[in-house]
Amino acid sequence: MQIFGLDIGGSGIKGAPVDLDRGDLAQERFKVLTPHPATPDGVADGVKQVVEHYGWTGPVGLTFPGVVTDGSTIRTAANVDRSWIDTDARALFSERLGGLPVTVVNDADAAGVAEMHFGAGRDRRGTVILLTFGTGIGSALFVDGALVPNTELGHLELHGHDAEKRASSKAKEDEELTWEHWAHRVQKYLAHVEMLFSPELFIIGGGVSRKSHKFLHYIEGIKAEIVPAQLQNNAGIVGAAMRAAEKDS
Ligand code: BGC
Repeated sequence: MQIFGLDIGGSGIKGAPVDLDRGDLAQERFKVLTPHPATPDGVADGVKQVVEHYGWTGPVGLTFPGVVTDGSTIRTAANVDRSWIDTDARALFSERLGGLPVTVVNDADAAGVAEMHFGAGRDRRGTVILLTFGTGIGSALFVDGALVPNTELGHLELHGHDAEKRASSKAKEDEELTWEHWAHRVQKYLAHVEMLFSPELFIIGGGVSRKSHKFLHYIEGIKAEIVPAQLQNNAGIVGAAMRAAEKDS
């Protein structure tokens, strides 16, 4: 079965039909730049362009980089335009897509669902936490495979700062930190999350998961196993399509 998956990120809106049996893209993905400011109207136009590129007419799953309740309502918007707050995103996207059925899910939750099913978290029980390091820090918490949605662990306070402002990969770029320096910050962040949740496994996702050989070896003193995500940049797209399939069935 195929469902369309889309990932709305700080820099790009990317999507493709997803093969749900394989947990992979059925076709090469297509990307448009995220408009700035990333308003509901501008992002909805980008979403329409990506979906129309494939002439898709079935159900669509979308990720959003903020708290999303009931597969629809946006509650926070840390890295996109604040006018998203309280937007009924399902209604907005569905209307822009000519009435296609739409499900919206937090981006890290989507990536986590895909990794737990097809990637680094497959068959893992107990407490598993996936963290995505990108423009912000996203989190997905699983207990015996079940998602606890919208955990927002990127906004924990660390040394008086919002953790994602110190340890996201954007912070690494903005402050021109070396991999070692940045890994030290990630280590402090993981130690804090570990103190609160004692997970068995941390899965490190986001764009940096491709470069884990550059920094994972600097991270010490964490009891949990730490592994890079396996689906890498496609985890959000695949997970969004999986959530949409659940809603559609
Ligand atoms: C948002 C999260 C999101 C994460 C990654 C954070 O700033 O609050 O909802 O998952 O960024 O995009």
